[in-house]
Amino acid sequence: MEKKVVFSGVQPSGSLTIGNYIGAIKNWVSLQDEYECYYCIVDLHSITVPQEPKNLRKNTLELLAVYLACGLDPEKCTLFIQSHVSAHAELSWVLSTMSYMGQLSRMTQYKEKSQRVGENVNAGLFTYPVLMAADILLYQADLVPVGEDQKQHLELARDLAERFNNRYSPTFKVPEPLIKKEGARIMSLQNPQKKMSKSDDNENGYILILDKPEDIRRKVKRAVTDSIGVVRYSDEQPGIKNLIEIYSAFSKDSIEDIEKRYEGIGYGKFKEDLAEVVIEGLRPIQEKFDSYMKNKDYLESVYKQGAEKARYISNKTLRKVYRKIGFIVN
Ligand code: AMP
Ligand code: TRP
Repeated sequence: MEKKVVFSGVQPSGSLTIGNYIGAIKNWVSLQDEYECYYCIVDLHSITVPQEPKNLRKNTLELLAVYLACGLDPEKCTLFIQSHVSAHAELSWVLSTMSYMGQLSRMTQYKEKSQRVGENVNAGLFTYPVLMAADILLYQADLVPVGEDQKQHLELARDLAERFNNRYSPTFKVPEPLIKKEGARIMSLQNPQKKMSKSDDNENGYILILDKPEDIRRKVKRAVTDSIGVVRYSDEQPGIKNLIEIYSAFSKDSIEDIEKRYEGIGYGKFKEDLAEVVIEGLRPIQEKFDSYMKNKDYLESVYKQGAEKARYISNKTLRKVYRKIGFIVN
């Protein structure tokens, strides 16, 4: 039996939050033993919003170091940088000719981001999900582990795969989203109705993977809760619910165990413990991150080797696509 294929990616657009870690990368690590995994640093996607070249270069390398520090192993999975593999941009063009403006304009992320940008929304922001579909379809991915917010984009990838397969002949695997129930949507510590995001104006809303212990303690202490006063996993207490999810993700304790442990105990102690659980969970990642960042040669060898494998696999799909469309393949 051939292994199933997994594909996912994160944009190198700045430091990652624990939302990215819990909702994405942590799950990727658990998949690498069982599946054929491709984990991409999607730099092409990141330029849909303005990037300072110097920062983009730095963020890209740092993201690779974060991938490694979180436990992704280049012996087990393919780690690569999107712009190193030209097939992504090429397939994206083909798929854009098969995408409907209507469907693209209904994408929640596009609507949100274009509102934030205001006038002169660039076309890349609009076609962003088409490039994402190309990423996934090139590798014939079966499964795509993402957070809840990417579900709509994945639906587009599935539609495009089916549309192409129907118009020509079976070419693409139709991918399935892999969204964990718990941790799929870590919320802002300042507003539990909003997703935790590094683009939040209020830095107390998010915890970064590379945050220092004192910052983590401060942010957890200031996290918005409620006046109910019971540590319970309930929709009526969105702030506390979110904190329990974070606690559970880092301690690996079940939600029920955490509720039991804090029965009759106030939020103060719960938050104190939570901060320590997060700090201890991030410590080994931060230590490894520092040591990878000191070894640029190693990072280079990882992304070079990854690109080689990714190019080989993606080209097979791209050539098939070109042939079916009627391009003369040389
Ligand atoms: P982004 O930072 O939006 O590029 O997201 C990168 C990955 O992290 C995607 O798979 C997202 O679904 C996931 N992600 C981002 N923010 C969160 C969050 N607050 N909770 C859970 N997953 C998240
Ligand atoms: N759009 C995703 C995000 O913002 C990143 C991404 C790009 C991605 N291409 C992908 C995720 C392919 C999964 C598969 O999080």
